[in-house]
Amino acid sequence: MKFPEYRARRTRRTPILRNMVRETQLAVDDFIYPLFCVEGTDVCNPISSMPGVSQMSVDRLAAEAREIRDLGIPAVILFGIPDHKDAEGSEGTNEDGIIPRSIRAIKAAVPELIVVTDVCMCEYTDHGHCGLIRDEEVVNDPTLRLLSLQALAHARAGADIIAPSDMMDGRVAAIRRTLDSEGFDHLPIMSYAVKYASAFYGPFREAAESAPQFGDRRSYQMDPANRREALREAQLDVNENADFLIVKPAMAYLDILRDLRERFDLPLVAYNVSGEFAMLKAAAQQGWVDHDKVMLELLTGMKRAGADLIITYHAKEAAKLLNHA
Ligand code: PBG
Repeated sequence: MKFPEYRARRTRRTPILRNMVRETQLAVDDFIYPLFCVEGTDVCNPISSMPGVSQMSVDRLAAEAREIRDLGIPAVILFGIPDHKDAEGSEGTNEDGIIPRSIRAIKAAVPELIVVTDVCMCEYTDHGHCGLIRDEEVVNDPTLRLLSLQALAHARAGADIIAPSDMMDGRVAAIRRTLDSEGFDHLPIMSYAVKYASAFYGPFREAAESAPQFGDRRSYQMDPANRREALREAQLDVNENADFLIVKPAMAYLDILRDLRERFDLPLVAYNVSGEFAMLKAAAQQGWVDHDKVMLELLTGMKRAGADLIITYHAKEAAKLLNHA
């Protein structure tokens, strides 16, 4: 008997063999591209910690949507930055607010582009927390009504998928009930089921102007040390009839993606967050890593861990690479 008997390298010898045995395929239609929508006209504010990403005014969205569609990216997720913020986040439920107007602009330009909307209070509140504050605490149940009304405003403007990111208990059920009673029983909910209190959201808070003005988000977002709790969080959202489950962030939480993949059959979404994006950009700018290769490796890792879809600021650049591969 020759040694070694089994040679794993046999199937790695040529590019064609490697393609044949590749287990994970990264595809452009896995991507959801985030957009930051601001008031004003002809605004395109680059976000310094997120090279290549900008806040954009509504009049710019039609061209942006066409570019995204032309790359083959099926969906965008919208974040709104209103001019007016107050303690109750009242702009969030305005049916003519920044997000409803952005949805209408995108759907008018590219009807087939799927518009997902982030539903949360933090972009609309002057204190920057994801819910209403009473006695310096984020209160759960009174926040649910406002989240439901925000989701309804998005639905009425033509959103295709509602994505609550606030981490209040019971919000999927509350939003589902509101949507169903208003004739939107066909609209899926993509729940940020497992969202950690992560330092990787730093650049996003610059982009969305949503950093909390006091305290932090640890009374509603999850402790990064917890794994079993992620299964409980996801189970609650499954029970409340969520249609997609998001795990956020992605890179440091691939085990959680895998856990959810094994436990639940719903489409699973990895959120490749702003700090992950910024770290790669910074390292690549220094010439310390190969940007494109590391990017594709990270995105492939998220799919291999179990994600069906990836929300990523890399969507456009990754699509360009995949389209020319
Ligand atoms: C909350 C929300 C946040 C992100 C998406 N939705 C910020 C937070 O919870 O503090 C972060 C996304 C990212 O970092 O890319 N509306």
